[in-house]
Amino acid sequence: MSAEASIVRRAVCPGSFDPVTNGHLDIIGRAASLYDEVVVAVLINKSKSSLFTVDERIEMLGEVLAVYPNVRIDSFYGLLVDYCRTNDIPVIVKGLRAISDFEYELQMAQMNRGLAGVDTLFMPTNPEYSFLASSLVKEIATYGGDVSTLLPPTILERLHERLGR
Ligand code: PNS
Repeated sequence: MSAEASIVRRAVCPGSFDPVTNGHLDIIGRAASLYDEVVVAVLINKSKSSLFTVDERIEMLGEVLAVYPNVRIDSFYGLLVDYCRTNDIPVIVKGLRAISDFEYELQMAQMNRGLAGVDTLFMPTNPEYSFLASSLVKEIATYGGDVSTLLPPTILERLHERLGR
């Protein structure tokens, strides 16, 4: 095997995933076809209230991502670039839903590159999911709206269970 062939191209898809949506899965699936290994990293954010615990979110991600042999799930605390450095990950993959995402994402991408040389690859989301956000899904489901096309069936079930529906 040549030295070139042994290089593992690794990327991280970071996020809160509270819960994972079809929009996340679209980006992670596409990243999985571009990189040898994709780490889906769930941010442990003590200052943000969440519907699902980090362990629950990891479990749900594990269920819906089991079809990808080169995707693994992890969690991280603190700076994403520190996680990247520790785990030898040179690239962050982010989905861009609309131009409104771009300004903040660009700022973070430039900061992360400046801090640690970690690059960001922006992937345009499938237009079908350009309006999709976990926060909206939770709000709509809380008031009885139909979010069945936005989440995998097992996640929808968990969401309804959590909301007592
Ligand atoms: O799903 P989210 O909540 O939009 O994901 C945001 C996330 C986790 C990707 C972002 O907040 C992040 O990278 N947080 C880690 C803390 C960090 O590195 N902050 C500095 C960014 S320049």
